[in-house]
Amino acid sequence: NKLDKYIITVFGASGDLSKKKTFPAIFGLFKQGEISKDECRVVGYARSKMTDEELRDRLKPFLLKQVSKESNGEQVVDDFLANVTYVQGPYDTDEGYKKLGESYKEIEKSLNNGSPVNRLHYLALPPSVFGTVCEQIKNNIYINEDDAKTKIIVEKPFGHDLESSRQLQKELAPLFSEDELYRIDHYLGKEMVKNLLILRFGNILFNSAWNKENIQNIQITFKEPFGTEGRGGYFNDIGIIRDVMQNHLLQVLTLLTMERPVAFDSEAVRDEKVKVLKAIAPIDHNDIIIGQYGASEDGSKPSYLDDETVPEGSKCITFAAMNFQIRNERWDGVPIIMKAGKALDVGKVEIRIQFKPVASGMFDQIPNNELVIRIQPDEAVYLKCNMKTPGLSTSTKITDLNLTYADRYEDFWIPQAYEALIRDALIGDHSNFVRDDELDVSWALFTPLLDYLEGKDAPAPTIYPYGSRGPTELNEYMHKHNYKYMHGDVYQWPIIRPD
Ligand code: BG6
Repeated sequence: NKLDKYIITVFGASGDLSKKKTFPAIFGLFKQGEISKDECRVVGYARSKMTDEELRDRLKPFLLKQVSKESNGEQVVDDFLANVTYVQGPYDTDEGYKKLGESYKEIEKSLNNGSPVNRLHYLALPPSVFGTVCEQIKNNIYINEDDAKTKIIVEKPFGHDLESSRQLQKELAPLFSEDELYRIDHYLGKEMVKNLLILRFGNILFNSAWNKENIQNIQITFKEPFGTEGRGGYFNDIGIIRDVMQNHLLQVLTLLTMERPVAFDSEAVRDEKVKVLKAIAPIDHNDIIIGQYGASEDGSKPSYLDDETVPEGSKCITFAAMNFQIRNERWDGVPIIMKAGKALDVGKVEIRIQFKPVASGMFDQIPNNELVIRIQPDEAVYLKCNMKTPGLSTSTKITDLNLTYADRYEDFWIPQAYEALIRDALIGDHSNFVRDDELDVSWALFTPLLDYLEGKDAPAPTIYPYGSRGPTELNEYMHKHNYKYMHGDVYQWPIIRPD
């Protein structure tokens, strides 16, 4: 796909997200040769007073990290930064946007002989200014011509609950068509998440076993080894459910359980996603585990409540596990457990699909097959299966079919999630962005649970030590939901111990 000509504007250019994610992602595409100075220029926009040079100096250390192993790395960074300029202005009045329009004209002179080019606006901004900025963009710098279109990338949070999400939709809908809007959920840009549909529908072996007849339990696990570390004040209004479950992990669940789309195009894929989301039963409030991290057992790591930015006595949830029941022919009765936590023992995100046991008879206590898809770190797919112990013995031994990317592929480049998604937006592919109706169903699913957990009868979260596996009732919970533990000498994944 050859890219058209673009001006990418990063709103909120002086903020954390743009320094750490947005600019590095645009730079990543430049470094890989996906965009060049003949096709694309980047403009930062924010309220802070800064010159072009000052913005470049601010971004440089973050970009250098990406080229630390390359001999001409600094040169590549400088070449990229030469295409980055800065415009300063407020978010809520015309003046800055008018300056932006002027700067676009200048850029278009050198990029396209003065004819307009496409405009991609990346809103790395807090939700409080989303609406205003969109309105100003529409009034001042919107373009919709044959060869020059407007695209807007928005970042989560897309609301706080169903009502506020609908309100946001209402504000944006009159301004931009669904086709012009790209709601980013960076999990949809992760390589292994993008691999899910191919793994399922491109392999008859998996595809034919992907149902309640063969699967006894599914787990989607998100673990971070660090706490909120000073960001607690911000996190406190959000909690782990809004932070990663209602969005990132639900996307993973959807791709894992949806029916086969008629084609790989974005509408076909998203139609199927919405369908399966609608088949999910309300989340049972009595069938969840909630936790908040306390200090580590050795006292070296603080508790959530020790974070000075957290209000005293907060019941904010930093760990949750819940069961999703999909009421359709494929999944009826299969527990699908989503669990996520901060300040746990390791950092990893993975999917674990445990198959039913084989008939006994000739086998005694033979372990179940388990397919593990590791989203991060170290992308891998491995399937635990039973084989004969090599040699004269006829006993069985559990082993694995292992596709660890780093072992299998040489010289491969896995784009960062944001790189992949910004490129998708540039080429106009919506498949990996969240559609309005999808967002609505996901909030409808989580809002009653959030209301309960944040209401006056909210249960107190179980305190678990920083650095532990989470609340101790988790094992029993998993057991209750059909997950059979196969620990110890039976099987050990060589790289990361299975849960
Ligand atoms: C973000 C959350 O959306 O996702 C963070 O706000 C979380 O709290 C992050 O750490 C996880 O993303 P990744 O790509 O590091 O798994």
